[in-house]
Amino acid sequence: MTMPWQPYKDPAFQEAVRLLNSHHPVAIPTETVYGLAAKFDDLTAIKEVFRLKNRPLDNPLIIHISDISQLSKIVSQDISPFKKLMETFWPGPLTLVLKANVEAVPSEVRAGLDTVAVRMPNHPKALALINEVGPLVAPSANKSGYPSPTSAQHVRNDYNGLVFVLDGGKCVKGLESTILDVHQEGKQQILRPGVLGWKEFKAVGFEPIVNRDFPKSEVVRAPGMKHRHYAPLAKVEWVSGIEDIPSFSQKCLVLSVDSLSESEVLQLPKNVLFKDFSGNFDSFAAHIYAEFREADVLGITQVYILRWPVDENEPTQLALVNRIEKAVSRV
Ligand code: TXA
Ligand code: MG
Repeated sequence: MTMPWQPYKDPAFQEAVRLLNSHHPVAIPTETVYGLAAKFDDLTAIKEVFRLKNRPLDNPLIIHISDISQLSKIVSQDISPFKKLMETFWPGPLTLVLKANVEAVPSEVRAGLDTVAVRMPNHPKALALINEVGPLVAPSANKSGYPSPTSAQHVRNDYNGLVFVLDGGKCVKGLESTILDVHQEGKQQILRPGVLGWKEFKAVGFEPIVNRDFPKSEVVRAPGMKHRHYAPLAKVEWVSGIEDIPSFSQKCLVLSVDSLSESEVLQLPKNVLFKDFSGNFDSFAAHIYAEFREADVLGITQVYILRWPVDENEPTQLALVNRIEKAVSRV
């Protein structure tokens, strides 16, 4: 039998606590993607987070909590109408945008807005760390514009080992949290799609506005989404079928989720590295950023993604389309 993880017997955990308590950012595991964390009111460390990521200052940060009681110092809004959402989906891949307690939450965290984004990550190491040092801001730990990291090694690669990473294994979900803005009554809306979607919110009595045209229109609504996102160095393109994959001598990566037939696989040109997720969208979501990053590591300059008939009722599929569209258009 394996022993449960014990923070106080883990030197890496202790080091993460020490660094956070002495104004240094630390990369932390979550179930979505790795985050680059700082204490939510530590301006020295927060500035370092922006600098390390090369993140535009107008892109606000998400505050990560480990207990709903921590909201009282962060949020100025009555949270009782949202208890059901919190109890159902936290810890988990849901970020809520609420009215901020502007006295307590630094303007740098909110990018000057009067709202604040909060979530409770579903990872034992992240939760233990927040219990120990208090709420943490944590943008995805990638360099701005690059795909989010879903393993400790991805973070080490991005910062040449200069950032301490609390290794919590591979991220289970692999796509950033769904952002649900509830700060204005009657105008609740999903700002960023994720693995939780309209169907799940409806089941607990919420019917946020959904924009069918996410990939483009989201840009204006979540401040950070106007910046370039999720794109590897390799060019990413959609293709409708394998006949659209040019057979040139350069190596390329083809990602597919709708299984190809054996004869189609045999038809693939020799220069193709082929990954098939066989209808498993959760697995596609968990691995897509790792695949993008792997292409760059291997020096592959072209990634093709086979289109599939998207089920509009499946949030993971919508979130995947959103991230792929952004990687394709490089915005
Ligand atoms: O899954 C996640 O959410 C990951 C992990 C580390 O928790 N974090 C993450 O953070 O994706 P980041 O910084 O990469 O994305 C945060 C997004 C940005 O698009 C930002 O604009 C939006 O949240 N955001 C933050 N505060 C906001 C606010 N007050 N109103 C609207 N959008 C906000
Ligand atoms: Mg990000």
